[in-house]
Amino acid sequence: MSAASTTPAVVIDVHLGPDDQAEALRRDVRDGLSRPQKSLPPKWLYDERGSELFDQITRLAEYYPTEAEREILLRHAPAIIERARPHTIVELGAGTSDKTRALLDAGRAASTLQRFIPFDVSEEFLRTTAATLTDAYPGLLVHGVVGDFDRHIERIPRGTERRMVVLLGGTIGNYPTAARRTLLREIVAGLSPGDRFLLGTDLVKDPARMVLAYDDPQGVTEAFNKNVLAVVNRELGAEFDPDRFDHEATWDPHEEWMDLGLRSRADQTVRIGDLGLEVDFAAGEYLRTEVSAKFRLASLAAELASVGLEVEYWFTDTAGDFAVSLSALRE
Ligand code: SAH
Ligand code: AVI
Repeated sequence: MSAASTTPAVVIDVHLGPDDQAEALRRDVRDGLSRPQKSLPPKWLYDERGSELFDQITRLAEYYPTEAEREILLRHAPAIIERARPHTIVELGAGTSDKTRALLDAGRAASTLQRFIPFDVSEEFLRTTAATLTDAYPGLLVHGVVGDFDRHIERIPRGTERRMVVLLGGTIGNYPTAARRTLLREIVAGLSPGDRFLLGTDLVKDPARMVLAYDDPQGVTEAFNKNVLAVVNRELGAEFDPDRFDHEATWDPHEEWMDLGLRSRADQTVRIGDLGLEVDFAAGEYLRTEVSAKFRLASLAAELASVGLEVEYWFTDTAGDFAVSLSALRE
């Protein structure tokens, strides 16, 4: 077959080997379940099933962030691209990259965009996303990277070309304050003068709406939250019974985050076979699975400034629910 008739293969770098992942999960489960306040990092919510459930969440009427951010991107993508003029867009926590298409469309229309690098911990989902976008955007080089925000941001391919790094959906809010600072510093370390950082952040609002967004009546978020137990059961031979836990989503007005977790319905002991561990849960004991911080523009600008970023533009949706900021390194 001649090169001209060959569909370009999707390039995927995989930085997460199965052994590596298994070891990381063992460590996180051992550490997180032996603390007085039990918790598991949210990245383990996103196996293939969890990624599918998250995709369903984005289509729930109660889950306002996705449509709010889509409204912003559809309206402002041309202005964002005009300002940033990226040759490469890097998307952290890409998922399906569905809303990102507004940026890819604008990049194509402006003839500046050459490469798209979706980065995600969820390998199967990333492969599908990369293949779908390769088909949808002929001429765009799609270079997927399977990795963990906490370890592999520096492995994202770099060149001398102008880049825009995007982190959408409010995913930054899944990092509590100190960890968020570390993640932002990692991102900033990969930027050069002239590059841009596009960040989607959910905003503080009426607590009742936020609670409903994370505790939908259909129970999709409950299934997503409980999926972490299925992951630990499958990967570590654990014996969690999801029916013995209640999904909980509460607004913490002090931290200004949604606190998501699972509350034990009874006194119970759960065996985690591969760790040789037995974990006691008292009736009513809480296992945190995720926080989802909500932001205010002034304090977010200060947080970005503290890691060396200056916000050039803010974009919000009509209802004022969500904000997208475009920043660059401070000169
Ligand atoms: N950007 C999409 C998806 C958000 S869901 C949107 O706006 O709708 C969060 C995404 O981040 C998921 O695809 C999940 O697999 C990924 N993710 C979560 N923790 C991660 C980690 N530690 N490293 C890399 N990706 C992660
Ligand atoms: C991916 N992240 C931004 C979602 C959020 O809103 O914090 C994850 C989520 N958890 C429950 N619903 C959605």
